[in-house]
Amino acid sequence: KKFKVYVTQPIPKEAESIMHSNNIELIINQNTPLKRDLLLQNVKDIDGIFCTLNEKIDKEILETAGASLKVIGTCSVGYDHIDINECKKRNIPVGYTPGVLTDASAELTVGLLLNTTRRISEAINAAKTGEWADWKIMWMCGRGLSGSNVGIFGLGRIGLAVANRLKNFGVNKIIYHNRKPNEEGAKQGYEYVDLDTLLSQSDFLIVTCSATKETEKFFNLEKFKKMKKSAVFVNVSRGSVVNQEDLCVALKDNLIAAAGLDVTTPEPLPLDHELLKLRNCFITPHICSAEVNTRVKMAVITANNISLGLQNKALLHQIN
Ligand code: GLV
Ligand code: GLV
Repeated sequence: KKFKVYVTQPIPKEAESIMHSNNIELIINQNTPLKRDLLLQNVKDIDGIFCTLNEKIDKEILETAGASLKVIGTCSVGYDHIDINECKKRNIPVGYTPGVLTDASAELTVGLLLNTTRRISEAINAAKTGEWADWKIMWMCGRGLSGSNVGIFGLGRIGLAVANRLKNFGVNKIIYHNRKPNEEGAKQGYEYVDLDTLLSQSDFLIVTCSATKETEKFFNLEKFKKMKKSAVFVNVSRGSVVNQEDLCVALKDNLIAAAGLDVTTPEPLPLDHELLKLRNCFITPHICSAEVNTRVKMAVITANNISLGLQNKALLHQIN
């Protein structure tokens, strides 16, 4: 008997092939964005789920899927959309894709930071709209990285990769705050500081932490008030680590200079959302890992995780 795996959206052929060659029948959803109701209908009596960060995999989904469900693979490094405890209770291994998207994510983070502080997208738009009248000395000026203090909140794989790239921009120093000092960070000469120091000294504050209970709405008005008025805030973690109403206030009242966000709450952000109207807020639609080879690798790892799980073997990358 073939295993049945529900796939929440079309995936690269390479990933399909792996699962096909592992005796898996794929039920691939074509109706994207996938509605919750349809997901609930389709997980009944399924052996595995190939999902992404779009789908909330909670107790209700697991109960609906029932005892047939043997493995879940998310095509992402983040897993805050999955109730890991509930999976553990049911002995359902959950696979994810760490490592392969580190470089792609770091690249985008640097790009978003440069765009935010040097106003690239704003300037491109000005060239198109005729706002470009002549070369004005102080027009379209932003603050550069040279001589600046770069702060990283959550120095993990991605944070380190961002720091390793930014150190070549002539920065003054790279500081970071974690629950505990990071060994590799220390080797690279990045300075472990307490939270208040990170907030008060960073010219660029980059958030690369994971989304947990402790980091939920962590960046609120109190934190923004402690930052430099000239500071640029970049978040590529999850929208949930930011109190967005407070961020709006901070940007409007110029408590900080600008923000670059690859992640928001919700996603997509409604078109009439205040953050989209602010001239000092730059939002990319969760594209950190959107690099061709990276996304294929993520899908292939997910396919392997699921195949291994169905054979009762350890996954390549298992969360629980
Ligand atoms: C992207 O945000 C991911 O978790 O892979
Ligand atoms: C994610 O991969 C991180 O550890 O930063």
